[in-house]
Amino acid sequence: MKYLKKQPWELDESQVTPENLFTNRRNFLKLGVAGLVSTSAVIQALANTNIDFKNLKYDYIKDANEDKLKLNTFEQITSHNNFYEFTTNQGKVKDLAKNMDTSNWMIEIDGLVEKPLFISFEDLVKKFQIYERIYRFRCVEGWSMVVPWNGFMLKDLIKAVKPLSTATHIEFETLYDEDIFPDQKSMLFSAIKYPYVEGLRMDEAMNDLTLMAVGLYGKDMPPQNGAPIRLIVPWKYGFKSIKSISKITFTNKEPLNTWQAENPREYGFYANVNPNVDHPRWSQAKERVLGSFFKQKTLMFNGYGDEVAHLYKGMDLKKYF
Ligand code: MTE
Repeated sequence: MKYLKKQPWELDESQVTPENLFTNRRNFLKLGVAGLVSTSAVIQALANTNIDFKNLKYDYIKDANEDKLKLNTFEQITSHNNFYEFTTNQGKVKDLAKNMDTSNWMIEIDGLVEKPLFISFEDLVKKFQIYERIYRFRCVEGWSMVVPWNGFMLKDLIKAVKPLSTATHIEFETLYDEDIFPDQKSMLFSAIKYPYVEGLRMDEAMNDLTLMAVGLYGKDMPPQNGAPIRLIVPWKYGFKSIKSISKITFTNKEPLNTWQAENPREYGFYANVNPNVDHPRWSQAKERVLGSFFKQKTLMFNGYGDEVAHLYKGMDLKKYF
């Protein structure tokens, strides 16, 4: 019997892959787990294999997870990353990022707001209720994962700084610091210009699903996933989920996001997950969950249509891709 209403960000068990188990067999054996154990116990054990990361200092409201969802493992989520400021090699980000120093991280919030802020990450997080949110995450490249993020709702931050009525969009910037991000210095891999920029329309930013993530699996955000704070917009392709944010600007025009600036024919401002609108160079109809062999169908708005489809009513999603 269920006492709690299922939250929109919870997935059905059938939509999460058991194949994770096989790809992590080595870890599984290392744990010395033998005999018959329930799938969820195995997943939990695998999720706990990483002991290098600190537990979050903040209490958080857990996602009810009544359906005992199977998540991608901590190892999978933290071993395959897109973070160009370190490298374009997805398997190497974790090594290059492991000593990233995020102490004394400051965040500037300004533009069209009544109460601009220049505040340390530590002080900012303390202001808001932290949640666990189990979300699908779909990269534009065709891979996906299921992640238990921890974070606060962007809408809570928006309310705190009181936007002016003229503010229609929010722009986010990743820190520019050549001592922290090797590729900002060497420009070796640079397919893109730095700092990385992203943006949302105000109503997208105010949606209950939009999260400022500060951790995952109840641990501080790993450097490779965008420490100490990143955006998570689960119905959009992963490139909208900008990492290591140091500046948030309220504005009255649509921000020019990094990937659109780089290649406007292939990447737009909206980037809503849409199996019916292909990337010019590949189909978006299917995706491979990290650790899976077989592909699965990609869902419209990544499965969050009930919560967000109204935001795009009347818009031609082929034009506003
Ligand atoms: N943010 C910054 N600053 N730099 C990046 O290279 N890559 C984006 C997004 N945010 C990126 C970024 C892309 S393309 C994806 S798919 C996701 O981060 C990947 O997030 P993950 O490494 O946590 O899976």
